[in-house]
Amino acid sequence: MKTTSAFVTLALSAAAYTRTFTVTNNCAYTIWPAIFTDLNVGTATPSQPTGWEADTLTTVTFSVPDNWASGRIWGRRSCNFSDPTNTGPGTCADGGCNGGLLCDPHSGTGVPPATVAEFTLGGGAGGTDWYDVSVVDGFNLPIRVDNDKGCSVASCPVDLIPGCPSPLLGPYDSTGAAVGCMSACDAGLAPDPANSPNCCTGDHGTAATCPPSGVQYYSYFKDNCPDAYAYAYDESSNTALWQCDAGLAADYTITFCPS
Ligand SMILES: *[C@@H]1O[C@H](CO)[C@@H](O)[C@H](O)[C@H]1NC(C)=O
Repeated sequence: MKTTSAFVTLALSAAAYTRTFTVTNNCAYTIWPAIFTDLNVGTATPSQPTGWEADTLTTVTFSVPDNWASGRIWGRRSCNFSDPTNTGPGTCADGGCNGGLLCDPHSGTGVPPATVAEFTLGGGAGGTDWYDVSVVDGFNLPIRVDNDKGCSVASCPVDLIPGCPSPLLGPYDSTGAAVGCMSACDAGLAPDPANSPNCCTGDHGTAATCPPSGVQYYSYFKDNCPDAYAYAYDESSNTALWQCDAGLAADYTITFCPS
């Protein structure tokens, strides 16, 4: 019996880490990628720390459990962690999290605007990997998510900042350069954020009552990034949320600033 349980333990731990994720910073400047796992949904977490510095043209590779649920990866811009007593999200111009360089495992989600790569992996045969690149909470960096199994590419591969409609432009780094393009909801175009078509909240809180036509500047995001998740109920576009047979055990590559 002892032998059997040792075997079961080994088999389970081996099965728990079956995916390889590769994160590349192809931007011409340093960014600080971050990972958050919604621990209310799943407890399996990637082997990589929840935040790190990625110099230009650098890559990291790490293991991700094949049942990683409600996970997200994004990039932070213009961070300064030199003051150890300052661990708030304001340490970065955007995408910052609670915790400092390492995002807090419970509250360290990124502050918008931030482009986010989202994953819920299906755990193996019979399951489905779901993934997307979301600009629902605005845009801060171009991201493309590739895989090695021929499944669809999720992306917002172009820089939406230069053409960002002026009401959405910002925030700005310490040199005055814009580092984001906000959602209409976050840009102050929702007088009552709890009941707004721009936020899909309140009376507009369902897919039926929050059509994309009611979200200001939806088409700016979707036309430029047709394969991104561009507002809260963008699944109706059929080019927002992507899936891959979990039995294929795809490995994923997340590229910031794909050329
Ligand atoms: C980083 O922040 C510290 C204060 O915490 C400041 O003294 C320093 O100049 C900042 N560095 C840069 C590069 O902005």
